[in-house]
Amino acid sequence: MFKWAETKISETKITSPSGKIVLIFRLHNGAPYYKVLLNGTEIIARSKLGFNLCGVKNYNSRQRILDISTSTHTETIELPWGETQYIDNTYNELTVKLTKYTLIFRVFDNVVALCYQLNPMKNIKRVSVAEELTEFNVSPNATTWSIPAYELDRYEYNYRKQPIQALTKSVHTPLTIKSGSTFLAIHEAALYDYGSMTLKLNHHGHLQADITPLSDGTKAHLNLPFKSPWRLVMLGESALELTTNYTMYALNQAPRGDFSWVKPLKFMGIWWAMYVGEYTWAPGPRHGATTKHARAYIDAAAKLGIKGLLIEGWNDGWEGDWLKNGQTTNFTSPMADFDLPAVARYAESRGIELVGHHETVGFVDNYTSQLERAYNYYAANHINYIKTGYSGSKMLIHGRYEYHHSQLGVNHYQKTVELAAKKHICIDIHEPIKGTGIERTFPNLLTREGARGQEYEGGALPISHACTLPFTRMLAGGMDYTCGILDVDNPTKHPNTTIVRQLAYFITFASGMVMAADRPAIYQKYQDLAEFIKNVPVNFERTVPLAGEIEKYYIVARKNRSNNQWFIGGITDEHARNFELKLDFLPPNTTFVAKLYQDAKNANFMTNRSAYEIAEKTVNSSDILKVCLAPGGGVAIHLRPLS
Ligand code: NOJ
Ligand code: CA
Repeated sequence: MFKWAETKISETKITSPSGKIVLIFRLHNGAPYYKVLLNGTEIIARSKLGFNLCGVKNYNSRQRILDISTSTHTETIELPWGETQYIDNTYNELTVKLTKYTLIFRVFDNVVALCYQLNPMKNIKRVSVAEELTEFNVSPNATTWSIPAYELDRYEYNYRKQPIQALTKSVHTPLTIKSGSTFLAIHEAALYDYGSMTLKLNHHGHLQADITPLSDGTKAHLNLPFKSPWRLVMLGESALELTTNYTMYALNQAPRGDFSWVKPLKFMGIWWAMYVGEYTWAPGPRHGATTKHARAYIDAAAKLGIKGLLIEGWNDGWEGDWLKNGQTTNFTSPMADFDLPAVARYAESRGIELVGHHETVGFVDNYTSQLERAYNYYAANHINYIKTGYSGSKMLIHGRYEYHHSQLGVNHYQKTVELAAKKHICIDIHEPIKGTGIERTFPNLLTREGARGQEYEGGALPISHACTLPFTRMLAGGMDYTCGILDVDNPTKHPNTTIVRQLAYFITFASGMVMAADRPAIYQKYQDLAEFIKNVPVNFERTVPLAGEIEKYYIVARKNRSNNQWFIGGITDEHARNFELKLDFLPPNTTFVAKLYQDAKNANFMTNRSAYEIAEKTVNSSDILKVCLAPGGGVAIHLRPLS
């Protein structure tokens, strides 16, 4: 630990452990700035820091440096589940104590992160943020991939590739950027009790944090002292390098308490049947969530070796206009044809975990008033998983419409996660707040949606969407993409993908809860493909990205955490692609049997979706595996040691 007593120093710098990244801090006319160099080249030019507070004049200016200290930190963190077991937490830290707040910078070899600690003020306990001033002044020539913020469908938009100058309206983070030959992703970690950071160009042409406002026009109300979320910039020489940047988790706290009861889960659902019109959420002749259907799905899941079952449309509120009914939906009142306790007992007897469902439609006031009772109801029936949903365009909180990603939204989601943890319930949030790594602290938050998933298939998803997510949305953690829809020619609604690509998704979209989303009869029809779905794990020890370009293709290998098997998943855009995959990630001197699920020669995501081939060969770590992906297709490979 190295400390300066104080004072006149107005510029100081800190380097990453290898020296590759340098962050320079400067106080100019009493206001703080920083810039970042990567291998000696400026990658983030002079950028402003700080806040404007409502009713507090000159809060951000006229500051002095009271103290500066540096420290180094090195640690290996073990994550209880996820796409990798161990992450590195090695960084140098610079703490600059200013008059109004303390700035903490952490510089890793692939990330720069900063956060604010707002100091207590005389006689003022609570302040309101008018504006956060944090800038990320990247090159005006950079290219970006983003989704728009403040739109009706929350995070559910197709990604847009745009020059950075086009970001005059706010976009969500992670915001992925290519600047020269460097790839960056701007995001945040440990978002608590504050609005989500979106980004837009300010009048200097610099990207600036735009904190999601509350309905009263402020950005957030804070109790002092307050520690802000971390702002982080991931840096890589390739887009692929970003995909294994796990620093977001390192910037979150270790779990407090025992979470050994948390188990990642693969689950089926009384779900896609509603999308293809076979069943309805609403009561009536085609009602999906009946006791009878539930028992049949439980039997099917047990037979397929899938350990969980989601049941949607089970409670009162789905009749008629369910979007309106959300105001009064009852979360402990099953419909007449659904005997929840009996279904739960039957599931337990067959070793199947039920995944309960709470569609709130964003009516948070109604939901919160029942929260404790609703979670107790599931817990009493031994239902250990809940999928929640917030389909509305805004949330009704304290009688006012608020953004899902506002401070009040953030606090609501947090309340559900913490209550669920108390009741030993795992949770999958749809229409969620974006991931900021809080699942490190609350591992029962197994997954979330937070992007367009396959519910948008059937025309709304460009084929590049799934090839963009690994480099954008997935930098914020696991996603419930709803994989494995093999009914690729269904006349009502089908994914525009090849059938094999649906298997690949189980690997490309790692997640603590993974849905095998199609119906039992379809898995019965394709038993050879269902075998892959049965075998694919949901918890990995290591992840090795093999190839990728944003929007174009992505191939990744992951090792099962509980045995020595490896799985590879690959997807491509509308172009057919051939790859030669080096298997040097496999342990040496071990022969593996590779089972390859491949697009047939003439397969095509528009004209011939269901053509596939399965082949087996033995391989070892010095081999190169040639794979061919059809237009809009994929590849899935299961590698198990021969002995
Ligand atoms: C949107 C969710 O993403 C989807 O999975 C769910 O089925 C519907 N809302 C209905 O709750
Ligand atoms: Ca959704």
